[in-house]
Amino acid sequence: MRNSSSVMLHPTVLGCLLLAGTVSLGSTAEILENGLPILWAQTASQVSDLPIQNGILTPNPWNFLHRMSLYRLVIVATDPFKGSLGTNTTDSPLWGLALQLGWMLTSGRLADPTGATTCGLQTGDTSCISTQSWWGCINYFVSALPFLSGAQQGFMGPEVQVQMQVPADAEDLCTTYANCTALYPDAMSKWNAFFQGLKAAMESPLPDNEKKDYLLGLYWTAQMASIYASAACNARQSHYSSAEVSFANNWLHSAEYVSAVRFHSSLEKSVLFLSPLPSRVLQDAPNTADLSQEETHTLYIFSWMNSIDTLLGGTLIRAWRSAMCSVDAREKGREMLEQLVLNPSFPTSTVFSLITMTC
Ligand SMILES: *[C@@H]1O[C@H](CO)[C@@H](O)[C@H](O)[C@H]1NC(C)=O
Ligand SMILES: *[C@@H]1O[C@H](CO)[C@@H](O)[C@H](O)[C@H]1NC(C)=O
Repeated sequence: MRNSSSVMLHPTVLGCLLLAGTVSLGSTAEILENGLPILWAQTASQVSDLPIQNGILTPNPWNFLHRMSLYRLVIVATDPFKGSLGTNTTDSPLWGLALQLGWMLTSGRLADPTGATTCGLQTGDTSCISTQSWWGCINYFVSALPFLSGAQQGFMGPEVQVQMQVPADAEDLCTTYANCTALYPDAMSKWNAFFQGLKAAMESPLPDNEKKDYLLGLYWTAQMASIYASAACNARQSHYSSAEVSFANNWLHSAEYVSAVRFHSSLEKSVLFLSPLPSRVLQDAPNTADLSQEETHTLYIFSWMNSIDTLLGGTLIRAWRSAMCSVDAREKGREMLEQLVLNPSFPTSTVFSLITMTC
Protein backbone atom coordinates (compact mmCIF):
# COMPACT_ATOMS: atom_id res chain seq x y z
CA MET A 1 0.00 0.00 0.00
CA ARG A 2 1.42 3.34 -0.99
CA ASN A 3 -0.55 5.72 1.18
CA SER A 4 -3.80 6.01 3.01
CA SER A 5 -5.54 8.17 0.43
CA SER A 6 -5.25 5.54 -2.29
CA VAL A 7 -6.70 2.96 0.07
CA MET A 8 -9.66 5.18 0.80
CA LEU A 9 -10.25 6.38 -2.70
CA HIS A 10 -9.98 3.38 -4.93
CA PRO A 11 -13.11 1.64 -3.68
CA THR A 12 -15.08 4.76 -4.58
CA VAL A 13 -13.93 4.70 -8.17
CA LEU A 14 -14.47 1.01 -8.43
CA GLY A 15 -17.83 1.23 -6.75
CA CYS A 16 -18.99 3.74 -9.25
CA LEU A 17 -17.67 1.68 -12.13
CA LEU A 18 -19.59 -1.19 -10.64
CA LEU A 19 -22.77 0.86 -10.64
CA ALA A 20 -22.12 2.08 -14.16
CA GLY A 21 -21.54 -1.52 -15.15
CA THR A 22 -24.74 -2.91 -13.78
CA VAL A 23 -26.84 -0.49 -15.77
CA SER A 24 -25.10 -1.03 -19.08
CA LEU A 25 -26.83 -4.33 -19.72
CA GLY A 26 -30.07 -2.67 -20.76
CA SER A 27 -29.05 -1.21 -24.11
CA THR A 28 -30.79 2.00 -25.15
CA ALA A 29 -28.85 4.12 -27.66
CA GLU A 30 -28.89 2.64 -31.13
CA ILE A 31 -25.26 2.07 -32.09
CA LEU A 32 -25.17 -1.25 -33.98
CA GLU A 33 -26.52 -2.40 -37.33
CA ASN A 34 -25.99 -6.09 -38.14
CA GLY A 35 -23.37 -6.25 -35.40
CA LEU A 36 -21.31 -3.37 -36.86
CA PRO A 37 -21.37 0.41 -36.28
CA ILE A 38 -24.44 2.02 -37.89
CA LEU A 39 -24.27 2.68 -41.65
CA TRP A 40 -20.98 0.73 -41.83
CA ALA A 41 -22.19 -1.09 -44.95
CA GLN A 42 -22.38 2.26 -46.78
CA THR A 43 -18.83 3.37 -45.96
CA ALA A 44 -15.75 3.13 -48.18
CA SER A 45 -14.10 -0.28 -48.14
CA GLN A 46 -11.03 0.91 -50.05
CA VAL A 47 -9.11 4.17 -50.27
CA SER A 48 -10.11 4.68 -53.93
CA ASP A 49 -13.80 4.89 -52.88
CA LEU A 50 -13.06 8.35 -51.41
CA PRO A 51 -12.73 11.45 -53.63
CA ILE A 52 -9.34 12.15 -55.21
CA GLN A 53 -8.34 15.50 -56.70
CA ASN A 54 -5.04 15.97 -58.57
CA GLY A 55 -3.70 12.80 -57.00
CA ILE A 56 -4.59 13.95 -53.45
CA LEU A 57 -7.15 12.05 -51.39
CA THR A 58 -9.82 14.55 -50.28
CA PRO A 59 -12.34 13.00 -47.84
CA ASN A 60 -15.08 15.25 -46.50
CA PRO A 61 -15.04 14.67 -42.73
CA TRP A 62 -18.21 16.81 -42.41
CA ASN A 63 -20.10 14.00 -44.09
CA PHE A 64 -20.87 11.16 -41.68
CA LEU A 65 -20.20 8.39 -44.21
CA HIS A 66 -16.82 9.85 -45.16
CA ARG A 67 -15.82 10.27 -41.54
CA MET A 68 -16.89 6.73 -40.67
CA SER A 69 -14.95 5.58 -43.76
CA LEU A 70 -11.77 7.01 -42.20
CA TYR A 71 -12.25 4.58 -39.31
CA ARG A 72 -13.05 1.67 -41.59
CA LEU A 73 -9.95 2.26 -43.71
CA VAL A 74 -7.66 2.59 -40.68
CA ILE A 75 -9.14 -0.52 -39.03
CA VAL A 76 -8.73 -2.57 -42.22
CA ALA A 77 -5.21 -1.25 -42.88
CA THR A 78 -3.94 -1.92 -39.34
CA ASP A 79 -5.66 -5.27 -38.97
CA PRO A 80 -2.71 -7.39 -40.16
CA PHE A 81 -0.48 -5.64 -37.59
CA LYS A 82 -2.56 -5.98 -34.45
CA GLY A 83 -1.16 -9.45 -33.58
CA SER A 84 -1.10 -9.50 -29.80
CA LEU A 85 -4.42 -7.63 -29.64
CA GLY A 86 -6.24 -10.65 -31.06
CA THR A 87 -6.90 -12.36 -34.36
CA ASN A 88 -10.57 -11.42 -34.76
CA THR A 89 -11.35 -8.44 -37.03
CA THR A 90 -13.41 -7.04 -34.14
CA ASP A 91 -10.32 -6.84 -31.87
CA SER A 92 -8.96 -3.49 -33.11
CA PRO A 93 -9.11 -0.84 -30.35
CA LEU A 94 -10.26 1.65 -33.00
CA TRP A 95 -13.75 0.11 -33.01
CA GLY A 96 -14.48 2.06 -29.83
CA LEU A 97 -14.08 5.37 -31.67
CA ALA A 98 -16.15 4.21 -34.64
CA LEU A 99 -18.98 3.20 -32.31
CA GLN A 100 -18.71 6.51 -30.50
CA LEU A 101 -19.16 8.39 -33.77
CA GLY A 102 -22.27 6.31 -34.52
CA TRP A 103 -23.71 7.13 -31.09
CA MET A 104 -23.09 10.84 -31.72
CA LEU A 105 -25.08 10.58 -34.96
CA THR A 106 -28.07 8.64 -33.65
CA SER A 107 -28.30 10.76 -30.50
CA GLY A 108 -28.48 13.95 -32.61
CA ARG A 109 -25.13 15.24 -31.37
CA LEU A 110 -23.67 15.87 -34.82
CA ALA A 111 -26.52 18.15 -35.91
CA ASP A 112 -26.29 21.94 -36.04
CA PRO A 113 -26.88 23.05 -32.41
CA THR A 114 -27.43 26.69 -33.41
CA GLY A 115 -30.60 26.00 -35.39
CA ALA A 116 -29.24 28.16 -38.22
CA THR A 117 -29.15 25.25 -40.70
CA THR A 118 -30.80 21.83 -41.07
CA CYS A 119 -27.39 20.11 -41.14
CA GLY A 120 -27.73 16.73 -39.44
CA LEU A 121 -31.45 17.03 -38.75
CA GLN A 122 -34.02 14.42 -39.79
CA THR A 123 -35.63 17.17 -41.87
CA GLY A 124 -32.35 18.11 -43.55
CA ASP A 125 -29.19 16.34 -44.67
CA THR A 126 -29.01 13.44 -42.20
CA SER A 127 -25.40 12.62 -43.07
CA CYS A 128 -24.21 16.20 -42.52
CA ILE A 129 -21.90 16.80 -39.53
CA SER A 130 -22.26 20.39 -38.38
CA THR A 131 -19.05 22.40 -38.04
CA GLN A 132 -20.76 24.03 -35.03
CA SER A 133 -21.31 20.71 -33.21
CA TRP A 134 -18.98 20.42 -30.21
CA TRP A 135 -19.20 16.64 -30.44
CA GLY A 136 -18.40 16.64 -34.15
CA CYS A 137 -15.41 18.88 -33.43
CA ILE A 138 -14.10 16.69 -30.60
CA ASN A 139 -14.47 13.62 -32.79
CA TYR A 140 -12.55 15.36 -35.60
CA PHE A 141 -9.45 15.12 -33.42
CA VAL A 142 -9.86 11.35 -32.99
CA SER A 143 -10.81 10.63 -36.62
CA ALA A 144 -9.10 13.06 -39.02
CA LEU A 145 -5.86 13.29 -37.01
CA PRO A 146 -5.26 9.52 -36.70
CA PHE A 147 -6.17 9.05 -40.37
CA LEU A 148 -3.64 11.71 -41.47
CA SER A 149 -0.99 10.15 -39.25
CA GLY A 150 -1.75 6.61 -40.45
CA ALA A 151 -1.61 7.72 -44.09
CA GLN A 152 1.72 9.46 -43.45
CA GLN A 153 3.04 6.21 -41.93
CA GLY A 154 2.14 4.42 -45.17
CA PHE A 155 -0.95 2.52 -44.00
CA MET A 156 -3.12 3.82 -46.89
CA GLY A 157 -0.58 2.83 -49.52
CA PRO A 158 2.77 4.26 -50.60
CA GLU A 159 2.89 8.05 -50.82
CA VAL A 160 -0.84 8.65 -50.41
CA GLN A 161 -1.36 12.36 -49.75
CA VAL A 162 -4.46 13.51 -47.94
CA GLN A 163 -6.20 16.85 -47.57
CA MET A 164 -9.47 16.96 -45.65
CA GLN A 165 -12.24 19.08 -47.18
CA VAL A 166 -13.15 21.98 -44.94
CA PRO A 167 -16.20 24.28 -44.95
CA ALA A 168 -15.53 28.03 -44.73
CA ASP A 169 -16.69 28.24 -41.10
CA ALA A 170 -14.28 25.56 -39.83
CA GLU A 171 -11.04 26.85 -41.27
CA ASP A 172 -9.58 26.92 -37.77
CA LEU A 173 -9.27 23.12 -37.99
CA CYS A 174 -6.20 21.55 -39.59
CA THR A 175 -6.66 19.54 -42.78
CA THR A 176 -3.30 18.04 -43.76
CA TYR A 177 -0.54 16.07 -42.07
CA ALA A 178 1.67 19.16 -42.27
CA ASN A 179 -0.69 21.64 -40.69
CA CYS A 180 -2.13 19.22 -38.12
CA THR A 181 1.48 18.57 -37.05
CA ALA A 182 2.15 22.31 -36.91
CA LEU A 183 -0.96 23.03 -34.82
CA TYR A 184 -1.07 19.86 -32.69
CA PRO A 185 2.49 18.45 -32.60
CA ASP A 186 1.89 16.40 -29.45
CA ALA A 187 -1.24 14.61 -30.70
CA MET A 188 0.24 13.93 -34.12
CA SER A 189 3.53 12.57 -32.76
CA LYS A 190 1.62 10.25 -30.42
CA TRP A 191 -0.51 8.91 -33.27
CA ASN A 192 2.68 8.42 -35.29
CA ALA A 193 4.11 6.48 -32.35
CA PHE A 194 1.01 4.26 -32.27
CA PHE A 195 1.22 3.43 -35.99
CA GLN A 196 4.99 2.89 -35.82
CA GLY A 197 4.49 0.77 -32.71
CA LEU A 198 2.11 -1.54 -34.58
CA LYS A 199 4.82 -2.22 -37.14
CA ALA A 200 7.56 -2.59 -34.52
CA ALA A 201 5.49 -5.02 -32.42
CA MET A 202 5.48 -7.47 -35.34
CA GLU A 203 9.26 -7.86 -34.93
CA SER A 204 9.36 -7.60 -31.15
CA PRO A 205 10.36 -10.63 -29.05
CA LEU A 206 8.23 -9.48 -26.09
CA PRO A 207 5.55 -11.87 -24.82
CA ASP A 208 2.05 -11.20 -26.19
CA ASN A 209 0.60 -9.80 -22.96
CA GLU A 210 3.38 -7.19 -22.78
CA LYS A 211 2.99 -6.30 -26.45
CA LYS A 212 -0.74 -5.90 -25.99
CA ASP A 213 -0.23 -3.64 -22.99
CA TYR A 214 2.38 -1.63 -24.91
CA LEU A 215 0.18 -1.16 -28.00
CA LEU A 216 -2.90 -0.25 -25.99
CA GLY A 217 -0.71 2.20 -24.04
CA LEU A 218 0.38 3.88 -27.29
CA TYR A 219 -3.21 3.90 -28.48
CA TRP A 220 -4.61 5.55 -25.33
CA THR A 221 -1.74 8.02 -25.10
CA ALA A 222 -2.57 9.13 -28.65
CA GLN A 223 -6.30 9.25 -28.00
CA MET A 224 -5.84 11.34 -24.83
CA ALA A 225 -3.42 13.69 -26.64
CA SER A 226 -6.12 14.22 -29.29
CA ILE A 227 -8.67 14.88 -26.57
CA TYR A 228 -6.39 17.49 -24.97
CA ALA A 229 -5.82 19.10 -28.38
CA SER A 230 -9.59 19.25 -28.90
CA ALA A 231 -9.78 22.05 -26.32
CA ALA A 232 -9.76 24.00 -29.61
CA CYS A 233 -13.48 23.05 -29.76
CA ASN A 234 -14.41 24.71 -26.45
CA ALA A 235 -16.13 27.77 -27.95
CA ARG A 236 -18.66 25.40 -29.56
CA GLN A 237 -19.93 24.42 -26.09
CA SER A 238 -21.77 27.76 -25.95
CA HIS A 239 -24.46 26.32 -28.25
CA TYR A 240 -25.65 23.75 -25.68
CA SER A 241 -27.67 23.64 -22.47
CA SER A 242 -25.75 23.59 -19.20
CA ALA A 243 -26.97 19.99 -18.67
CA GLU A 244 -25.39 18.93 -21.97
CA VAL A 245 -22.18 20.86 -21.26
CA SER A 246 -21.76 19.26 -17.88
CA PHE A 247 -22.45 15.81 -19.33
CA ALA A 248 -19.91 16.51 -22.09
CA ASN A 249 -17.22 17.52 -19.60
CA ASN A 250 -17.94 14.56 -17.33
CA TRP A 251 -17.77 12.27 -20.34
CA LEU A 252 -14.33 13.64 -21.25
CA HIS A 253 -13.22 13.21 -17.65
CA SER A 254 -14.33 9.57 -17.55
CA ALA A 255 -11.92 8.87 -20.44
CA GLU A 256 -9.08 9.37 -17.94
CA TYR A 257 -10.17 6.32 -15.92
CA VAL A 258 -10.69 4.13 -18.96
CA SER A 259 -7.37 5.21 -20.45
CA ALA A 260 -5.43 4.46 -17.23
CA VAL A 261 -6.25 0.74 -17.51
CA ARG A 262 -5.51 0.85 -21.25
CA PHE A 263 -8.99 -0.48 -21.96
CA HIS A 264 -9.08 -2.84 -24.94
CA SER A 265 -11.82 -0.98 -26.83
CA SER A 266 -12.75 -3.82 -29.19
CA LEU A 267 -16.15 -3.84 -30.87
CA GLU A 268 -17.80 -6.13 -28.33
CA LYS A 269 -16.36 -4.44 -25.25
CA SER A 270 -17.03 -0.89 -26.41
CA VAL A 271 -20.71 -1.62 -26.99
CA LEU A 272 -21.12 -2.28 -23.28
CA PHE A 273 -19.63 1.08 -22.35
CA LEU A 274 -21.49 3.06 -24.99
CA SER A 275 -25.01 1.70 -24.90
CA PRO A 276 -26.07 3.43 -21.62
CA LEU A 277 -25.05 6.89 -22.87
CA PRO A 278 -27.92 9.38 -23.31
CA SER A 279 -29.77 8.83 -26.60
CA ARG A 280 -30.48 12.51 -27.20
CA VAL A 281 -28.94 15.92 -26.56
CA LEU A 282 -29.78 17.07 -23.02
CA GLN A 283 -31.92 20.13 -22.34
CA ASP A 284 -32.02 22.03 -19.05
CA ALA A 285 -35.81 21.92 -18.87
CA PRO A 286 -38.29 20.59 -18.14
CA ASN A 287 -37.06 17.06 -17.20
CA THR A 288 -35.33 13.90 -18.30
CA ALA A 289 -38.54 11.85 -18.43
CA ASP A 290 -37.93 10.54 -21.92
CA LEU A 291 -34.51 9.14 -21.00
CA SER A 292 -34.45 5.55 -19.84
CA GLN A 293 -33.51 4.66 -16.29
CA GLU A 294 -30.15 3.38 -17.56
CA GLU A 295 -29.37 6.64 -19.29
CA THR A 296 -30.34 8.75 -16.30
CA HIS A 297 -28.27 6.56 -14.03
CA THR A 298 -25.21 6.85 -16.27
CA LEU A 299 -25.50 10.63 -16.18
CA TYR A 300 -25.69 10.48 -12.41
CA ILE A 301 -22.60 8.26 -12.17
CA PHE A 302 -20.58 10.49 -14.50
CA SER A 303 -21.46 13.66 -12.66
CA TRP A 304 -20.91 12.04 -9.28
CA MET A 305 -17.45 10.81 -10.31
CA ASN A 306 -16.52 14.24 -11.60
CA SER A 307 -17.80 16.19 -8.61
CA ILE A 308 -15.96 13.94 -6.15
CA ASP A 309 -12.79 14.36 -8.14
CA THR A 310 -13.22 18.14 -8.32
CA LEU A 311 -13.86 18.26 -4.60
CA LEU A 312 -10.66 16.33 -3.97
CA GLY A 313 -8.67 18.42 -6.41
CA GLY A 314 -8.00 15.59 -8.83
CA THR A 315 -6.81 13.13 -6.14
CA LEU A 316 -9.17 10.43 -7.30
CA ILE A 317 -7.87 10.18 -10.82
CA ARG A 318 -4.25 10.48 -9.63
CA ALA A 319 -4.75 7.63 -7.17
CA TRP A 320 -6.37 5.52 -9.86
CA ARG A 321 -3.58 6.27 -12.34
CA SER A 322 -0.86 5.48 -9.84
CA ALA A 323 -2.41 2.09 -9.05
CA MET A 324 -2.35 1.24 -12.77
CA CYS A 325 1.43 1.31 -12.82
CA SER A 326 2.61 -1.95 -14.38
CA VAL A 327 1.71 -4.41 -17.11
CA ASP A 328 0.38 -6.71 -14.44
CA ALA A 329 -1.66 -4.08 -12.60
CA ARG A 330 -3.23 -2.81 -15.80
CA GLU A 331 -4.01 -6.33 -16.96
CA LYS A 332 -5.85 -6.90 -13.69
CA GLY A 333 -7.46 -3.46 -13.81
CA ARG A 334 -8.66 -4.12 -17.34
CA GLU A 335 -10.00 -7.56 -16.55
CA MET A 336 -11.72 -6.16 -13.52
CA LEU A 337 -13.26 -3.25 -15.42
CA GLU A 338 -14.57 -5.71 -17.99
CA GLN A 339 -15.87 -8.07 -15.33
CA LEU A 340 -17.59 -5.20 -13.57
CA VAL A 341 -19.33 -4.36 -16.80
CA LEU A 342 -20.17 -7.87 -17.90
CA ASN A 343 -21.01 -9.33 -14.56
CA PRO A 344 -23.02 -7.22 -12.09
CA SER A 345 -22.52 -9.79 -9.31
CA PHE A 346 -18.71 -9.60 -9.59
CA PRO A 347 -17.41 -9.84 -6.00
CA THR A 348 -16.22 -6.46 -4.76
CA SER A 349 -13.71 -8.23 -2.51
CA THR A 350 -11.65 -8.85 -5.67
CA VAL A 351 -11.48 -5.11 -6.04
CA PHE A 352 -9.61 -4.79 -2.75
CA SER A 353 -6.85 -7.14 -3.82
CA LEU A 354 -6.14 -4.75 -6.66
CA ILE A 355 -6.10 -1.67 -4.46
CA THR A 356 -3.47 -3.17 -2.18
CA MET A 357 -1.24 -4.12 -5.09
CA THR A 358 1.99 -2.17 -5.43
CA CYS A 359 4.39 -1.87 -8.33
C1 LIG B 1 -15.10 -12.85 -33.96
O1 LIG B 1 -15.91 -12.30 -32.94
C2 LIG B 1 -17.31 -12.45 -33.18
C3 LIG B 1 -18.05 -11.71 -32.11
O2 LIG B 1 -17.62 -12.08 -30.84
C4 LIG B 1 -17.65 -13.93 -33.21
O3 LIG B 1 -19.02 -14.09 -33.48
C5 LIG B 1 -16.82 -14.60 -34.29
O4 LIG B 1 -17.05 -15.99 -34.26
C6 LIG B 1 -15.34 -14.34 -34.10
N1 LIG B 1 -14.60 -14.85 -35.23
C7 LIG B 1 -13.49 -15.57 -35.09
C8 LIG B 1 -12.81 -15.98 -36.37
O5 LIG B 1 -13.02 -15.89 -34.01
C1 LIG C 1 -3.83 23.50 -43.99
O1 LIG C 1 -3.22 23.33 -45.26
C2 LIG C 1 -4.15 23.37 -46.35
C3 LIG C 1 -3.38 23.01 -47.62
O2 LIG C 1 -2.25 23.78 -47.77
C4 LIG C 1 -4.80 24.76 -46.41
O3 LIG C 1 -5.73 24.79 -47.45
C5 LIG C 1 -5.48 25.03 -45.07
O4 LIG C 1 -6.01 26.33 -45.05
C6 LIG C 1 -4.51 24.87 -43.91
N1 LIG C 1 -5.25 24.99 -42.69
C7 LIG C 1 -4.78 25.60 -41.58
C8 LIG C 1 -5.66 25.62 -40.39
O5 LIG C 1 -3.67 26.11 -41.55
